[in-house]
Amino acid sequence: GYALWMRYAPLQPALAADYRTHLGEVVSPDQTPTQRAAREELVRGLSGLLGRAPRMNTAAIAAPAVVLGTPQSSVLIAPLRKEIEALGDEGYLLRHAHIDGHTVLLVAAPQDIGVLYGVFHLLRLLQTGASLDALEVRESPRLRLRLLNHWDNLDGYVERGYAGRSLWDWQTLPEWRDPRYTDYARANASLGINGTVLNNVNASAQSLAPDYLAKAAALADIFRPYGIRVYLSARFSAPIELGGLTTADPLDPAVQRWWRDKADEIYTRIPDFGGFLVKANSEGQPGPQDYGRSHADGANLLAAALAPHGGVVMWRAFVYAHDVPADRATQAYTEFVGLDGAFLPNVIVQVKNGPIDFQPREPFHPLFGAMPRTPLMMEVQITKEYLGFATHLVYLGPLYEEALQSDTRVRGEGATVAQLLTGIAGVANIGNDRTWSGSHFDQANWYAFGRLAWNPRHPSRDIAADWAAMTFTPSPEVVQPIVEMMMDSREAAVNYMTPLGLHHLMARGHHYGPGPWVDGGPRADWTSVYYHRADRHGIGFDRTAHGSNAVGQYSPEVAAEYEDLARAPEPLLLWFHHVPWDHRMASGRPLWDELVGRYTQGVRQVQGMQATWAGLQGRVDAQRHVQVAAFLSLQRREAQWWRDASVAYFQSVSGRPLPAGETAPP
Ligand code: GCU
Repeated sequence: GYALWMRYAPLQPALAADYRTHLGEVVSPDQTPTQRAAREELVRGLSGLLGRAPRMNTAAIAAPAVVLGTPQSSVLIAPLRKEIEALGDEGYLLRHAHIDGHTVLLVAAPQDIGVLYGVFHLLRLLQTGASLDALEVRESPRLRLRLLNHWDNLDGYVERGYAGRSLWDWQTLPEWRDPRYTDYARANASLGINGTVLNNVNASAQSLAPDYLAKAAALADIFRPYGIRVYLSARFSAPIELGGLTTADPLDPAVQRWWRDKADEIYTRIPDFGGFLVKANSEGQPGPQDYGRSHADGANLLAAALAPHGGVVMWRAFVYAHDVPADRATQAYTEFVGLDGAFLPNVIVQVKNGPIDFQPREPFHPLFGAMPRTPLMMEVQITKEYLGFATHLVYLGPLYEEALQSDTRVRGEGATVAQLLTGIAGVANIGNDRTWSGSHFDQANWYAFGRLAWNPRHPSRDIAADWAAMTFTPSPEVVQPIVEMMMDSREAAVNYMTPLGLHHLMARGHHYGPGPWVDGGPRADWTSVYYHRADRHGIGFDRTAHGSNAVGQYSPEVAAEYEDLARAPEPLLLWFHHVPWDHRMASGRPLWDELVGRYTQGVRQVQGMQATWAGLQGRVDAQRHVQVAAFLSLQRREAQWWRDASVAYFQSVSGRPLPAGETAPP
């Protein structure tokens, strides 16, 4: 599992022979670290896939050749300057050309990093068995910021991490530059991920202390050739903890000076430092509201310190207050919408995909479209805190796609969330586990996140197919069933955990396994009963105008749809409505029967995945086959646990008999 989707295993001999007719020689510059990274990757890939190392050259051509470079780095590419410029700083071009009487394959870009991205694209074509005839690819990323957020603590523990301990070995940094850091950078560059926040949003001030900055600088040095900038989560009270000040008030001149000095210090060590990610006044974290100031005052304090160096502040909208709100789903919008226009230009507000917290299914967050004067990033979770950790097979591509393609209808039709974004952040599922992600299939979620960050319109099904081909084998008899499993898996999890718009029914604290009965304790919104509101008459959270009116935070067209029991999309029904048990569903069944049926269906879907996987025995190497099969059987057992526990609990509330054909939980 270590090689991820960059296995470069030998292709079928006929295919390899065909590719060799295009790719016998690599002509590439090797003056900069990024040029060398591109060259080395291509050589590594071709040697593995085609079973033979290509000839290497830096300028002259002996066909058939692949020619890499930028107008600055290659005299062969220089004449294409005009054509290439339009691709932007990170774009690239792949096409055939005639140079010096030879037909060559160009991987050309305005900047070195585009060439590296182009090399990964070319390798992907080979890994998936695509034809190189008539090749014509022009690519540029749609989003400027494509970041991983690591929730890694300095002691090596990863918050909500299910893939071992942190990849960052703070103790041995900066001296020991583990080669695994380079492999991490390669994997991210293969997807176009261009930034990484190294530490947890629940940040320790220590990560800004000189010792830790030296360690972060070592990582930045390793990542730089791969186009990845380092960012840090900043603790708002760091001027007190590290600077010995008595306040962190953003309007205090001493505090402002401290952050300016800190920014200067960081940039002397990391000249291309990306900026800060901040969780403030949420879940007990310090923030500007501690001093009676606003989120804008807080964000602008840091933004002003970073601006001279070109850094950004990603200020999170995940605010989760001390007082229990009438409806937790409304809080971020309530606190932020009035601040639109109040932020400095280098502030980006980072908004989770949905208004609660990375649930198996949520509607899109109402802040998307509601802050037209503020750059926004969407934050999704790659690690599966609420989706069965690393053991349940749940492909998140469809979840990300659904969020990105949600139509906010703020500018008439066609304003999808994706179109409103400046960037995207994924809470990483990476640790020091041999598979990186805690399971083979969780690698697909890192992969899909990166591909969608590059192009949010890419169908998640196609991404799954690429991943399966690269990770297992390009043969369609393997790829097709794996894709079917993956595409069904998210809906399966929704069904056996939280069907029909239910949410936050997981056990308290760790969020693994069912807990719809969770009640009591310190806060109402830490209970499940707060979210499902099941009673003798029905179930669901009334967020219409008669209830919390969360629907009122969406644009009028979206609100009208969600508000109307007849028009609200069934997958979100119980998110927005408290619905009688007898309510007739699209299937013709009463809600109670539908709910039980969905839970059972979820278990059947997992059984289906097991059967599909069993059919791949002998076509997937035994080592990986056996582990995936074991995880699926665990998932099947736990899907049943979710189903039985949830049905039994809701039955105790509804008092209804099980529908015909449903068996009682043991
Ligand atoms: C969730 C998660 C926390 C995390 C928080 C956040 O609530 O359970 O561990 O800190 O999100 O996004 O800040």
